[in-house]
Amino acid sequence: MKKRVYSGIRATGRLHLGNYLGAVKGMLALQDSYDCIFSVVDLHTITVPYDPSVLQGSIQEIVLDYLAAGLDPKKCLLEIQSQVPQHTELAYLFSTIYPVSRLEDLPTYKEKKAQYPKYVNMGLLYYPVLMTADILLYKGELVPVGIDQEPHLEVTREIARKFNSMYPSTGSGSLTFPEPVRFKTNGEHVPSLSGTGKMSKSVEGSYITLTDDLETIRKRLRAAPTDSGTKGGEIPKEGGVANLFKLLELFADNKTNTKYTHDYRQGTIRYADLKEELSQAIYKELAPFQARRKEFEANPKLVESVIEESIRECQKMAEETMKEVRKKMGLE
Ligand code: TRP
Repeated sequence: MKKRVYSGIRATGRLHLGNYLGAVKGMLALQDSYDCIFSVVDLHTITVPYDPSVLQGSIQEIVLDYLAAGLDPKKCLLEIQSQVPQHTELAYLFSTIYPVSRLEDLPTYKEKKAQYPKYVNMGLLYYPVLMTADILLYKGELVPVGIDQEPHLEVTREIARKFNSMYPSTGSGSLTFPEPVRFKTNGEHVPSLSGTGKMSKSVEGSYITLTDDLETIRKRLRAAPTDSGTKGGEIPKEGGVANLFKLLELFADNKTNTKYTHDYRQGTIRYADLKEELSQAIYKELAPFQARRKEFEANPKLVESVIEESIRECQKMAEETMKEVRKKMGLE
């Protein structure tokens, strides 16, 4: 039997190049060899301040991005987390076997608390428990996510272990949860246009979305910081110039790369030219994706029916797990 893979992306707007190279490309590679479920995790999205009037739109954006990128509902299931209510039911049941103190200690929780001191809600504390329910609802074993999610997966394994030992399998109820591990895909570190850190949805001026047209890409790159270009010598290891070169490496051909590396060393680099060539290289990579996305956008009925069917399948699988869980916990 193929191993099951589960992963999700929060609905905070359109996907950008970082998500594409870091997450979606990995998903694409996995759908051919594993039994995959990819989710839009809207219930996780609402643990930080958000605008309810645009949430449905943001969910749809991710669905369209998933489909346009090539995730194929014939090969993998796509779900919208809140439409499979078993996620929250299982999360609640898991919360009864897991200590609050352990959740309060997680780095992600502490970061969010510092970031939104007026918005420290139960959902934020509960975040890793819901994530655990996402994965274990489908008995997922492999989870393609970034290294920042490792502490959450540790919680997932602890909960699986604890559930298995507190509610051991008897003859009829044979449910045993797997202990899922992070699945490293060849996700690239895509640097921010702002010159520091990585491309991020929450940092304006740091990203290029998958749906940006050539003019928008040019505009965003023009705003990226550089230096005078006359220094010469080795290319810096960090900062705006370093990030532009990293992007060149990811998107431009060897010849272009070699040319600008040479120019930098000589102190004759023209950043306007570099940015123009980089804009075109990025746009070239995105154009086929954008064409497919337009087709899906023009066909909302098709998208709706494809997703509905996929969600129905997920609900069926989820209910099977829940039956076993309720039985084991004496609720049925
Ligand atoms: N916490 C993940 C993130 O921020 C999103 C997520 C929610 C997720 N549930 C998941 C990822 C289950 C993998 C599996 O990226």
